[in-house]
Amino acid sequence: MTRTVAILGAGIGREHLDAYLQIADRYSVRWICDLDTERANRLAERCGAQVTAEIDEVLADPGTEIIDICLPPKLHVPVALKALAAGRHVVLEKPIAGSLADADALAAAAAGAPGQVFPVFQYRYGPAVDAVRRLSAAGFLARPLSAALETHWDRRADYYANPWRGTWAHELGGVVLSHAIHIHDLLTLMFGPVAEVSAALATRANPIETEDCAALAFRMKNGAVASSSITLGAADNTSRLRLVFADMTIESGRAPYALATDDWTFVARDPDRQAEVDALVSASAPSQRGFEGLLAGIADALDGKGNAVPSLAEGLASIELATAIYHADRTGQRVSLPVDRSLPICKGLAP
Ligand SMILES: NC(=O)c1ccc[n+]([C@@H]2O[C@H](COP(=O)([O-])OP(=O)(O)OC[C@H]3O[C@@H](n4cnc5c(N)ncnc54)[C@H](O)[C@@H]3O)[C@@H](O)[C@H]2O)c1
Repeated sequence: MTRTVAILGAGIGREHLDAYLQIADRYSVRWICDLDTERANRLAERCGAQVTAEIDEVLADPGTEIIDICLPPKLHVPVALKALAAGRHVVLEKPIAGSLADADALAAAAAGAPGQVFPVFQYRYGPAVDAVRRLSAAGFLARPLSAALETHWDRRADYYANPWRGTWAHELGGVVLSHAIHIHDLLTLMFGPVAEVSAALATRANPIETEDCAALAFRMKNGAVASSSITLGAADNTSRLRLVFADMTIESGRAPYALATDDWTFVARDPDRQAEVDALVSASAPSQRGFEGLLAGIADALDGKGNAVPSLAEGLASIELATAIYHADRTGQRVSLPVDRSLPICKGLAP
């Protein structure tokens, strides 16, 4: 069936719209909402949607089933709570919340509401992650050992000219919360949940309030270990994962915003099994990528088909991991998960 959507926020909302239009048999975009009416109009003219600057006008429309929140981070939880209270489903950009208290409140509200909340982790969609899922089902990834992650991006003054970015009050965190959240989501998808974190954070690349560099060490619940190197001061934009399992080593491509669509290498530790691996990797059916894959998955989930869509619990886990990272940096100690909810940092990540 065709689902009706409102896109709130016409920045990354433009890429969400591109994806909705790619799967126009699944979705009809009814509203574009932005304080910047010209920006909203540019999107609306591509899909015939109504334009408004008033979020409440959108929420009052009983003909809209899904509220797609592409607003600055500070607005994510308050608007999502209003949308749930109005009986709508929510597609929620990252980070789903800026504190564990807010993420917990969102999860509690969703548990008692008719609508569902779908966090945006579009990096999971593409042929490379599909191949990982097949290799996992065939048993090649049963024993994770060690992983190295890089998020080395280039963000300069023009990026921070947008006034909410780089601020505790509006972005709610820095590169750990906003940018590396995607690669950490991929790590936990492939290596399982994190048990313990050590962290060193720094603001070195731009004159902003929040951190823009980090060196992190994770111990996973299954005993594997991982490191994550992060900066927004690189000369270009690359993301990379190197994942070592007992039976296989996986190396991603470097495409910063669409890792799962790049060329990855999959090398069996036992050379005699490489042909089996190659067959599993190349068995790929044409898959939908990025936002299109995510939004098609959400439509399937709402229609009661398929189960590969990121859950609100996984969104909450991403905020829990970020909270542990900030707390580890501030205290100089290793921090275990789940995070103790009585810690002040659970109410907000700002120092
Ligand atoms: N999933 C991804 O890979 C990805 C990529 C980029 C951004 N994002 C996330 O998307 C969100 C938005 O980021 P962006 O880069 O598009 O920001 P942006 O500033 O370019 O766009 C946000 C838009 O929201 C509008 N807005 C702000 N307050 C509003 C209000 N009260 N009512 C209506 N409109 C309002 C602004 O006018 C602006 O046009 C952030 O949370 C960011 O982290 C995610």
